Amino acid sequence: MKWTNTILSLAFMAKAIMASPFVHNRANGIDVYKLTVSGGNRELDGQVLRMKASKIGVYGSGDKYMTVKVYPASSEKPGCNTLHTYPIGIVDHAIAVNGTGAFRDFIDVVQPAGLSASNTMTNWNSFQMSENRLKVDMGGKWVAFPDPDQGWNVKWFDGKSMVAQDYIPITIKYTKVDN
Ligand SMILES: *[C@@H]1O[C@H](CO)[C@@H](O)[C@H](O)[C@H]1NC(C)=O
Repeated sequence: MKWTNTILSLAFMAKAIMASPFVHNRANGIDVYKLTVSGGNRELDGQVLRMKASKIGVYGSGDKYMTVKVYPASSEKPGCNTLHTYPIGIVDHAIAVNGTGAFRDFIDVVQPAGLSASNTMTNWNSFQMSENRLKVDMGGKWVAFPDPDQGWNVKWFDGKSMVAQDYIPITIKYTKVDN
């Protein structure tokens, strides 16, 4: 790479880092957690959550799909946390439930702070971690759906809608990992 390119990319990186409100979390001792399914069925119980494209679910073992690791940060919503993915890159990522229907996707969101205020379907600021369980402060429960390809997609079910689909209720637990 030419020097001019190197200098340009360094300048870009510095700008991106300064623009991120999360930089102060990089420094020391953040708590990082992995997420595991509890309950469900034999294929689900005890499995760690991984990321497939931007979806979060149970997608087998091995290195193909990255384990979701998150660290909590403060949320605008009282009593709640945002959960950002780890390792921390130049661009902030957080996990969120997304959608408007009975079942909302559990996803990874790029630059959540940049989501427009009119986007009410992507909820990334309502996570609650208590008694070893991950919850969303919006009424409902975690469920799993078979992925058409392989594995299971985790979704948030509002718990009220009458639905025809088969879903499997699960619990999501968090465990601290070394970082
Ligand atoms: C959220 O869901 C909507 C509707 O399915 C979709 O258009 C949008 O891209 C999703 N947002 C993210 C961040 O994935």
